[in-house]
Amino acid sequence: MAATKTKRDADPESKSSLTTWVARISALFLFFSLCSVLDGIKSRWYVFDPTSLHELAQAAIAHAPAPDDTAFMVDYIIKNLTSTYPSTQIALNHDTSEWVFNNAGGAMGAMYIIHASITEYLIVFGTPIGTEGHSGIHTADDYFNILVGEQWAFSPPNLQMERYPAGSVHHLPRGQVKQYKMHEGCFALEYARGWIPLMLPFGFADSLSSTLDYKTLYHTVRVTGREIIRNLLIFKI
Ligand SMILES: *[C@@H]1O[C@H](CO)[C@@H](O)[C@H](O)[C@H]1NC(C)=O
Repeated sequence: MAATKTKRDADPESKSSLTTWVARISALFLFFSLCSVLDGIKSRWYVFDPTSLHELAQAAIAHAPAPDDTAFMVDYIIKNLTSTYPSTQIALNHDTSEWVFNNAGGAMGAMYIIHASITEYLIVFGTPIGTEGHSGIHTADDYFNILVGEQWAFSPPNLQMERYPAGSVHHLPRGQVKQYKMHEGCFALEYARGWIPLMLPFGFADSLSSTLDYKTLYHTVRVTGREIIRNLLIFKI
């Protein structure tokens, strides 16, 4: 054993492999340092803020002719966002008919992607018939502004049901996990801020492993990619 070791140490090849490993470990260290720096400054790329989106969701509910008029609320939200944020600052998807199914964490609903970039997304997500599932473990803070219906949530050791009616906001901090249920019809304006690309695998996993609905998957990737690129083109990270 010892003899082999001595022989190896003398070998110039093992010296170069040591250099390779030092280089690899340094690269890894640099990569994690870069990630940590970027994580520290990510907030400078945020355009939306949770408080004004919550106010906007509440205003959309207040102006709706009926409490279940989701289409009206979506229009109201888009009109407001379009006049609030210049198109040079942030790109929004104005096509309110562009809904795609979404299966994630065992829950199923549909979503309309209003905005997607590297550090933020804003969607309307919901279903008129109810669903239940896993929230996912996310690298972003998630603000679920209930527009129509009610969302329930559960997170032990609190054994009571959390209840989020229309007009309220359910904040799921980065890294936390809950079971949630849209008991009956429920739609929400969902705002996430953090590292959005790292959230996408959760959004795709159910399609790849369960539904095999590649048409929906294709449209989800197409719309998300298109919106992220539209934002990158105006330097919205
Ligand atoms: C958008 O909605 C917010 C919240 O209700 C409101 O304060 C703001 O004035 C609205 N902006 C426009 C341009 O309608």
